Amino acid sequence: MIRLDKYLCEAEAGSRSQVKALIKKGRVTVNGEPAREPERKVDEERDRVELDGEPVCYERFVYYMLHKPAGLVTATQDKRERTVMELLKEAPGRGLFPVGRLDKDTEGLLLITNDGALAHRLLSPARHVDKTYLVKTALPVTEQMYEALRAGVEIGDDKPTRPAAADPLPGTECGLILTITEGRFHQVKRMLQAVGNEVLYLKRLSMGPLVLDETLEKGAFRPLREKELEALGRTDQGKADRGGAT
Ligand code: URA
Repeated sequence: MIRLDKYLCEAEAGSRSQVKALIKKGRVTVNGEPAREPERKVDEERDRVELDGEPVCYERFVYYMLHKPAGLVTATQDKRERTVMELLKEAPGRGLFPVGRLDKDTEGLLLITNDGALAHRLLSPARHVDKTYLVKTALPVTEQMYEALRAGVEIGDDKPTRPAAADPLPGTECGLILTITEGRFHQVKRMLQAVGNEVLYLKRLSMGPLVLDETLEKGAFRPLREKELEALGRTDQGKADRGGAT
């Protein structure tokens, strides 16, 4: 349950003072009855809130798939660099942040949400969520390199990397598809360096059950689809879609 004025703010019906004024004017109804007290509580899951007779669409959590282009840093803000969040300026939702980090020159799948619990689950080192990358390399990837990457390599941390899946990228000797289950700093680049190669291009294809939608242009984003939310265990959780636009 949350306050009606907070509910309307989060649904982007206006600022706190604007929504209070709307409520006082009797333009807001809850379950068909005029609601004139900003502090009255509403149930985000069950109550039907309308503004001027139109359903208010309230979504506590929002989830976007972004096709990150190279050249932007993965951060909510940065003093010097452009961030991925600049691409989502028009995206509804408060408190959005990227889940995990891709290097400035890395492209591909980035999940942007305001669901901290989900982010925590996907990033938790204990959960070993799969991350699959398309990697283009400076040198051909030899059988020895594949074996080392699959077994785990020393990259200068306390422990070698966990075993990874590594398979040739069809159509080239200088590339591979690599699936890792950790998220160490510059991990893929350091793994390739450790086996005597070098990453020239890196793109994330998937994270856990979420797969990059290749129809998304670089720099474009879209809300996650129901099936994707389901795969992440997030259907209808903390989400009350009133089925209409504000
Ligand atoms: N590994 C890297 O080296 N860079 C990334 O951006 C992601 C994984």
